[in-house]
Amino acid sequence: MIKRFQAWLQQKEQSSKPQELTRDNVPEHVAIIMDGNGRWAKHRGLPRVAGHHNGMKAVKRVTIAANDMGIKVLTMYVFSTENWKRPKDEVDFLMKLPQEFLAIELDELIEKNVQVRMMGYREDLPEHTLRALEEAERKTKHNTGLILNFALNYGSQREIVESVRHIAREVEAGRLNVDDIEEATIHSHLLSNGLPDPDLLIRTSGELRLSNFMLWQLAYSELWFTDIYWPDFNEQHLREAVIEYQRRSRRYGGLQ
Ligand code: FPP
Repeated sequence: MIKRFQAWLQQKEQSSKPQELTRDNVPEHVAIIMDGNGRWAKHRGLPRVAGHHNGMKAVKRVTIAANDMGIKVLTMYVFSTENWKRPKDEVDFLMKLPQEFLAIELDELIEKNVQVRMMGYREDLPEHTLRALEEAERKTKHNTGLILNFALNYGSQREIVESVRHIAREVEAGRLNVDDIEEATIHSHLLSNGLPDPDLLIRTSGELRLSNFMLWQLAYSELWFTDIYWPDFNEQHLREAVIEYQRRSRRYGGLQ
């Protein structure tokens, strides 16, 4: 009897799950760990930087697709605070990509009402990288469409440490009571302040970890992993991820 009820319940759940993307439950914020550039290149006998260069083209494809789908914020993990450990040539190449991307794409992004932002530790970036990003931020700051948020020289543990330091200084200065520190206090000191937490996290290339990415903000995000290497990721893969997101039931620790 119980088995028949469970089978009926499962069938009911399956049939109510959307097979197509529905416009009314699009994730507001999608965050992506773009992984697999190096392996994509290696499989083709190309240098790793060719993978990053093709990864840049995927950034464009996915930004346009996200905008068309009605996603409001797209955060892309471009460079972590740990990525400085890579060979200098590769780091130099990665640091030139935002500039190259924006030189080619900024006009179209402006036309599509996209707002460009950068989330990360600016002081460590080469001047040319920062200049390109800040110019894009300035030129798009009044745009009201998709927020394209580049996580660059971003590390979540450092972000949490710095947030705690700020809060401790406010307590020290007598502006804040220890007992008034809440989740929202930490949240408002993070680099992502002002943005909603990601509803959906995508990681490409088959790796199943968070790699120091938005650890606080991902507390209740839906996670979607794919074996596709980032340079091959396209509109259809984004649709698949969003359709899967729409099938999930988000309970935030509660019941249904
Ligand atoms: C991880 O793959 C990827 C990165 C560290 C760089 C991501 C950068 C881009 C996709 C291009 C950025 C584009 C713009 C517009 C700024 P990996 O190199 O670790 O791959 P592997 O694990 O296969 O070696």
